[in-house]
Amino acid sequence: MNSSTKLFACALIAAQLLVAVHGGVFDFTDRWVDSDKAKPFPENAVLGGYDSEGYENYVGRIIAASSVLPARVRAETGYATYNSDSVSNQANSYDLLVSNETLSYEWVRSFDGFREKNPVSVGTSVTNERVYICRARTDGGLFIGTLYLSQRACFIRYENWPMRRLTKYEVLVRKLIPAPSSTFEVQVN
Ligand SMILES: *[C@@H]1O[C@H](CO)[C@@H](O)[C@H](O)[C@H]1NC(C)=O
Repeated sequence: MNSSTKLFACALIAAQLLVAVHGGVFDFTDRWVDSDKAKPFPENAVLGGYDSEGYENYVGRIIAASSVLPARVRAETGYATYNSDSVSNQANSYDLLVSNETLSYEWVRSFDGFREKNPVSVGTSVTNERVYICRARTDGGLFIGTLYLSQRACFIRYENWPMRRLTKYEVLVRKLIPAPSSTFEVQVN
């Protein structure tokens, strides 16, 4: 390596470190299963809505350009799409959110970036902001979108439809299910 190549390599490493520190980090509070269309679809995947073609969309996440973003995934074909506040695209591999006996998910009505209790975060954006999961009716579907509280809006852009910026939407929240009641709580009379 000559010195300018070395300098370039150092700059590249520094830039990568900066990205690693500042954004694009997955959130590990919930259980996400690494998946793609070749893998069996997990049984407890969380349903989010449906797209303009009428396919059900499950809650997924992807990482693109150092941002972790929610994704909408069709179970039948593994077709996955996502959007940030500016771009939309398709992904070949993704994580799928799964529920279990003690942890389930529900959609609650919200607006203007209001911080609901126990919102599910996919991870952080390139600017190190937490990214949440929203959904709204638009363009002939009920689409999973990307919620930035700082922008007080849910962003949805599906395929070649225009970018939608919605101030009324639903947010995906975590809901703990109480453990099965003990025998003492069973009514005897
Ligand atoms: C359900 O998932 C959560 C999050 O991954 C985990 O902490 C919890 O132990 C799981 N519960 C069961 C019964 O597997």
